[in-house]
Amino acid sequence: MTTATMDLKQHIRGIPDFPKPGILFYDISTLMRNADAWQVAMGRVTHQVAPWAPDMLAAIESRGFLTAAPLASRLGCGLVMLRKPGKLPGETVSHSYELEYGSDTLHIQADAIVPGQRVVVMDDLLATGGTLAASVALLRKVGANVVGASVLVELTALGGRARLDVPVKALVSYDD
Ligand code: PRP
Ligand code: MG
Repeated sequence: MTTATMDLKQHIRGIPDFPKPGILFYDISTLMRNADAWQVAMGRVTHQVAPWAPDMLAAIESRGFLTAAPLASRLGCGLVMLRKPGKLPGETVSHSYELEYGSDTLHIQADAIVPGQRVVVMDDLLATGGTLAASVALLRKVGANVVGASVLVELTALGGRARLDVPVKALVSYDD
């Protein structure tokens, strides 16, 4: 199989009943473990993200770090981390959001973005869209011009894309 035709779904494993009964977990560990498949994946994401001409990528803790760091290196742009509470030193700005049960908060360093910078937010997976929507809101609080969102996997049945007011690119999608 050539890199142009490689089916990346063959390298993403679905694990039933994780982390809870009834949830099918799409595991990118097997994609990253295969050097050729990971190279192809990062090449394709680069092609999806490059037209947005970002100044900065924003990586969502924790699995978003895995895609954003190689992408920033390929695109020659900067990288900022959106982190869970208590992880970032210095002054931070936060945004809290509701989950199915309870709430969560993401932080960014207050001086991470020069207002008006073009930012693409990156994560491994788009499910309900709550995490990405909160990340976009947080980035706007510090003045970012959020020009897009990029994920490896989209679970289309959950409708997360509809919660986002920025363009979204997904490498693979599942409708089950
Ligand atoms: C998972 C996944 C996305 C988010 C998607 O992260 O990595 O960040 O959920 O779900 P949503 O679209 O419904 O918001 P998780 O909170 O499990 O943490 P992790 O990345 O640290 O493993
Ligand atoms: Mg995550």
